[in-house]
Amino acid sequence: MHTDVSANARVNAQGLNSKPHKVTAEGVNVFYGNKQALNQVNLDIPSNMVTALIGPSGCGKSTFLRCLNRMNDVVDGCRVEGEICLDGENIYARGVDVVHLRARVGMVFQKPNPFPKSIYDNVAYGPRIHGLAKSRTDMDEIVMTSLEKAGLLDEVRDRLDAPGTGLSGGQQQRLCIARAIAVEPEVILMDEPCSALDPIATAKIEELIDELKENYTIIMVTHSMQQAARVSQKTAFFHLGELVEQGDTTDIFTKPVDERTKAYVTGRIG
Ligand SMILES: Nc1ncnc2c1ncn2[C@@H]1O[C@H](COP(=O)(O)OP(=O)(O)O)[C@@H](O)[C@H]1O
Ligand SMILES: [Mg+2]
Repeated sequence: MHTDVSANARVNAQGLNSKPHKVTAEGVNVFYGNKQALNQVNLDIPSNMVTALIGPSGCGKSTFLRCLNRMNDVVDGCRVEGEICLDGENIYARGVDVVHLRARVGMVFQKPNPFPKSIYDNVAYGPRIHGLAKSRTDMDEIVMTSLEKAGLLDEVRDRLDAPGTGLSGGQQQRLCIARAIAVEPEVILMDEPCSALDPIATAKIEELIDELKENYTIIMVTHSMQQAARVSQKTAFFHLGELVEQGDTTDIFTKPVDERTKAYVTGRIG
């Protein structure tokens, strides 16, 4: 069996019952031009759990999510300060390979965005770029496994050459999840992944997210408190660019400490 000595050392440093934090954010400020969107955000994200980011529209949830795989680098006028570490290493340090980082920290967007390619090629896209397959057989294996893990294989097995854009909305979103999984990420960022989907497709994605946490660390923005309660173990509440409160999801919903959290989870603000 493979043993990660450094990971074990971190586990021991944090106590036997707690896993190491996969992602840590310290003193994060984000500016768009001279407008500050996030103010001194500190947040620790545990491994193999679903962490939900909640809060009113415009409070900085997507901005924070984009910091975690440096997607803000490509946003004009956006500046990020502070330290964000993945497995203890600063992802904003000089010399970090951003393409490699984005393979380790994948992203699924609000609106399913399959490429105008076949189902097969959508999933094979990342592995091709990163040279993960040595042969066609290798690639077939990666594509099939990824579709299987995304809970889509049974529905598309006989039409892998059909365009990804021809699938239903829920299937497209699972295809995007398969595409993210295909490059073997460690963390998957999801920005309101169900907001464009009907309740049945939403339920499927939620079930999938629950399964995926066995193998991945998931950070999900949602505007639905019911969804956060259903699928996440940890919740962070943002308000006006500040991270107001974070903790176990049940605690945030049943015994929030901050008045602003209370007001939000009881539906008084939002
Ligand atoms: N590309 C951008 N350029 C300028 N301002 C932006 C940009 N993206 C977001 N903002 C601003 O940053 C703040 C936080 O936005 P966002 O992170 O999208 O919030 P949320 O996801 O919680 O709705 C908002 O005031 C928004 O208008
Ligand atoms: Mg958003």
